[in-house]
Amino acid sequence: MRIENPERMAELGARIAAELRAGDLVLLNGELGAGKTTLTRGIGAALGVRGAVTSPTFVLARTHPREGKAPLVHVDAYRLTSAMELDDLDIDFSSSIVIVEWGADLMEGIADEWLSVDIVRPHGGQKVSSGAVDENADENVNENTDENADVEPREVSIAAHGARWAHSPLLS
Ligand SMILES: Nc1ncnc2c1ncn2[C@@H]1O[C@H](COP(=O)(O)OP(=O)(O)O)[C@@H](O)[C@H]1O
Ligand SMILES: [Mg+2]
Repeated sequence: MRIENPERMAELGARIAAELRAGDLVLLNGELGAGKTTLTRGIGAALGVRGAVTSPTFVLARTHPREGKAPLVHVDAYRLTSAMELDDLDIDFSSSIVIVEWGADLMEGIADEWLSVDIVRPHGGQKVSSGAVDENADENVNENTDENADVEPREVSIAAHGARWAHSPLLS
């Protein structure tokens, strides 16, 4: 589906949030600046989490509590190099809603059911070269919130892995 701007991305987040419950895992894929954190912010807002959802750059994972409900755990796996490291975060998957940016390659053996959201920026890219990890790009890596960040449509596709999501209304 086509997502015209950040506000629409947040609305998609709200639609996803409406389907989420404890034990759910959502993987977000897409290049730097695609809109993964923007989507997560929309999910967090709709879930009514405490605390602003930002890029958890230096903490890798941030837990956002909710009054009497499953917390949202937001993981940025950009710097995680192995599933072992993800395991080291000791996330309580079963009693949390977990969203992982860049987690697609890390989840094997850790989970077997997830919703995956792919975000593509059809009209060109990001200043940071895609693919390669640039050690000097720290300030740009997780936040593309500079004023020059153009509003452009994104192409978003949602897929599911495992029985949990088999009949989800989110699947296109
Ligand atoms: N259609 C759109 N959907 C989502 N974000 C958009 C869109 N158009 C422009 N943006 C901007 O792109 C940037 C996305 O950054 P971010 O969500 O941090 O990306 P990521 O977490 O994937 O690296 C934000 O500055 C956002 O305002
Ligand atoms: Mg991000």
